[in-house]
Amino acid sequence: MNDDGHRVIRPYMLAFAGLQRKAAVAMQAILDAIQDPGSSAGDFAALPLPEGYRAVTLHRDEEHMFDGLEPGDRDPRTSLHLEEVPVPELGLGEALIAVMASSVNYNTVWSSIFSPVSTFAFLRRYGRLSPLTARHDLPYHVVGSDLAGVVLRTGPGVTAWKPGEEVVAHCLSVELESADGHNDTMLDPEQRIWGYETNFGGLAELALVKANQLMPKPKHLTWEEAATPGLVNSTAFRQLVSDNGASMKQGQNVLVWGASGGLGAYATQYALAGGAIPVCVVSSERKAGLCRAMGAELVINRAAEGYKFWKDEKTQDPKEWKRFGARIRELTGGEDVDIVFEHPGRDTFGASVYLTRKGGTIVTCASTSGFMHEYDNRYLWMSLKKIIGSHFANYREAWQANRLIAKGKIHPTMSAVYPLEQTGQAALDVHRNRHHGKVGVLCLAPREGLGVRAPELRAEHLAKINRFREPVAA
Ligand SMILES: NC(=O)c1ccc[n+]([C@@H]2O[C@H](COP(=O)([O-])OP(=O)(O)OC[C@H]3O[C@@H](n4cnc5c(N)ncnc54)[C@H](OP(=O)(O)O)[C@@H]3O)[C@@H](O)[C@H]2O)c1
Repeated sequence: MNDDGHRVIRPYMLAFAGLQRKAAVAMQAILDAIQDPGSSAGDFAALPLPEGYRAVTLHRDEEHMFDGLEPGDRDPRTSLHLEEVPVPELGLGEALIAVMASSVNYNTVWSSIFSPVSTFAFLRRYGRLSPLTARHDLPYHVVGSDLAGVVLRTGPGVTAWKPGEEVVAHCLSVELESADGHNDTMLDPEQRIWGYETNFGGLAELALVKANQLMPKPKHLTWEEAATPGLVNSTAFRQLVSDNGASMKQGQNVLVWGASGGLGAYATQYALAGGAIPVCVVSSERKAGLCRAMGAELVINRAAEGYKFWKDEKTQDPKEWKRFGARIRELTGGEDVDIVFEHPGRDTFGASVYLTRKGGTIVTCASTSGFMHEYDNRYLWMSLKKIIGSHFANYREAWQANRLIAKGKIHPTMSAVYPLEQTGQAALDVHRNRHHGKVGVLCLAPREGLGVRAPELRAEHLAKINRFREPVAA
């Protein structure tokens, strides 16, 4: 860090300033082509590729830098670097993307604090699979699992996408050589999250993806708005809507933890769009206001109402589960919830299992507060409840979720935008739960507000697109 608290750019691989200058010139030509509406596929294909690009990285030789510190005390600003790295070679079925914008997901928090594991362990394991995957096993890890940008090059075997096409990428990376993943690609034994369990992620000027990660960029959104839904929107879609998740139906009551956060704000939107009734749990009046702005009527401010589900580190307090359940009934007119949208994990899971209605479903995709859950199993089996594990989304689910954004049925939840240089600060804000919805990161985009190709559709939905950016009355 320098005296202003800004990250210092440390060239990692390209030692010579001359090479960096050449890369900057080539990158400017790419940006000029993206911003010129007359650029053709041929123009993009003819653009020379730079030898290096600026990327947000972690360093393998720093993976123990936080040893001895609690995960909550680790600061992503000290582990995330912005530096120039070489452009990876393009392989079979892959695409090289000029990244205009990306976003910070919670997995960037996990990777940057090397918890619960160092992501270099993932890269090492992936690298052992084949000569192609060996490219990922490097002493640096380019992180980031979202992008909006433009196809620059496609590898052999790619026919669905061409240079110049404007895209977003979902983060499912699969090899699909085993039979196991051919019904639901999430079940592929070589399933990974791009930019977390693989290298060459989206928080960078360029990114390497498998071409089957690509989806059309929603035309009515700016680059940074389009870059923010991908990971969380797809995850919430599978977890709540898909038959692989809770298979939510009209009229059901859905308890949404963190209802204005990354995942929760999409779960809230899906509940409302699908005719269900979200019961939104948040920790401030500002967040309660955001839930109401999305159309939710039933909101619980867990901080103001002071629920304390654990008496101490080992003992839960069923009286608090009951107090919380009673509050839900008060809001719903005496009904329990059919579905609990779970991700806080250890802190809330006992309460979630308790308060779900008879025959209901607890669907979980994470354990932010701790993954060793404890719950009273009598409430599960005697009341015939189900716990479903859910993880990201298959290609089809990610496509369906993106389609709903493109049609203006589900909206981005972007509250703030950071320059690439400030990614560490953005990750710290998410780590400290100081953010709302999602935060965007500008990569090649020189400023906010660019990339809108369907202004009429945008005008129709502008207030909803901006609702996380507007001050909300409590
Ligand atoms: N498996 C997957 O595919 C997948 C995909 C995306 C995310 N995830 C995981 O899901 C988790 C949430 O991700 P996110 O993007 O939604 O993060 P986020 O933007 O930080 O939102 C999570 C929200 O959960 C609430 N929360 C946090 N700790 C809590 C606690 N102890 N008790 C009750 N509420 C709590 C907070 O809301 P309030 O303070 O307002 O209550 C917070 O804003 C992370 O662990 C992430 O890694 C998994």
